[in-house]
Amino acid sequence: MNKYVVEGRNRLSGEITVQGAKNSALPILAASILPESESEIHNCPNLSDVAAALRILEYLGCKTHVNGNVVTVRSDCMTRHDIPDQLMREMRSSILFLGAILTKFSEARLSLPGGCELGPRPIDLHLMGLEQLGASITEDHGYINCSIPGGRLTGGTVALSFPSVGATENIMIAATLAKGETTITNCACEPEIVDLANYLNACGAKISGAGESVITITGVEKLHGATHTVIPDRIVAATYLCAAAITQGEVLLHDIKPSLLGGILPMIEKAGCVIQKDSDSIYLKNNGRLSGFKKIRTMPYPGFPTDAQSPIMALSCVSAGTTMFIENIFENRYKHVAELLRFGADIKVEGRVAVVEGVSHLTSASVHCTDLRGGAALMIAALCAEGRSEIKEIHHVERGYEDIAAGLQKLGANIRRFSDVVAV
Ligand code: UD1
Repeated sequence: MNKYVVEGRNRLSGEITVQGAKNSALPILAASILPESESEIHNCPNLSDVAAALRILEYLGCKTHVNGNVVTVRSDCMTRHDIPDQLMREMRSSILFLGAILTKFSEARLSLPGGCELGPRPIDLHLMGLEQLGASITEDHGYINCSIPGGRLTGGTVALSFPSVGATENIMIAATLAKGETTITNCACEPEIVDLANYLNACGAKISGAGESVITITGVEKLHGATHTVIPDRIVAATYLCAAAITQGEVLLHDIKPSLLGGILPMIEKAGCVIQKDSDSIYLKNNGRLSGFKKIRTMPYPGFPTDAQSPIMALSCVSAGTTMFIENIFENRYKHVAELLRFGADIKVEGRVAVVEGVSHLTSASVHCTDLRGGAALMIAALCAEGRSEIKEIHHVERGYEDIAAGLQKLGANIRRFSDVVAV
């Protein structure tokens, strides 16, 4: 089992370039099966989730090539329209391939993604949207079978009852090649959706309104490949800011537009950090103990992102006063709390509410990552805890952070990654 070992209480200081966004790269890779010629995706982060998406593309018959952070995908050679259970289980976001495969082949067969560490995570909105565009959907033996009786999806209106990020993306991808115009209402407005729309438009799609609550897609006959650069990862940026803040350090983040963190920066600033913003960089400095964040409600963008809830919670554990978290997006997003308690944090959870009373210091612990962002929270806590902490189950963290141990080391953290070699 791989693990990180962290000697806490080193003040972080330095500069770091923020990686490309996982949540942009994954839908863009799924959409890359639609163009009839090669796409070149730049700033694609090197992550286990991206590797899982590439395995799916290869399984489908596409040709992929990775050179550093540049991924090329050729999908004119795609032969399959199914994703087996084993590949679907590697990454829940594999459901993003559904709309693309369906619209390309007029049929798709995918294993149901099932629940995950954040709760049941249904896909009813994805399926409802595709049905609205003319797909016929059945389920058997844990698989979803989709087909288009007329051979091509037909544009229509899809009203989402909740602004689901994945459903907005799946329906938007599928509608690019549908006949006529599609309108999606109550869309998610996340920057990663704008990034996906920009990629698809560069491929010849006609999408307008991405980033707003109504998206309109005028279907086109075909798409061509394009070169696209993935936007920076706002959650990774938030994680490094929390890591610097909790060690009373300073950090300059490069390649990150401050507006992407609009829901987060004002709160960190109000708690006592100095923040300076430039067009594509963020500087943070923290000289002393922060004050608690009072109340944080996770909301769809541009509200406070659920993915930043656990890193900020780690920071709130040593901030003076009370912070109340209200998790409105996922049912089961406090699994990291039990692990934070091992560091000596004072947190009480009741349903969707967690109340943190800031303590003066944390002490080292041996902890297990429970999910991707929860794992990041444990790393942040370990950076400020007295003594040597061990963080296990780090595959969760490595789904979304490109070499985070090296990034933190660069800033002065005492962190090492150990890989267990199994003796044969
Ligand atoms: C995406 C992000 C994830 C982030 C989340 C919310 C990717 C790859 N992942 O996940 O990091 O935490 O957005 O910002 O981009 N829901 C339904 N029915 C559906 C779809 C969703 O009930 O058909 C519910 C979910 O169970 C959840 C909520 O809607 O409670 C939000 O989910 P959604 O916005 O779809 O998140 P994801 O796209 O899965």
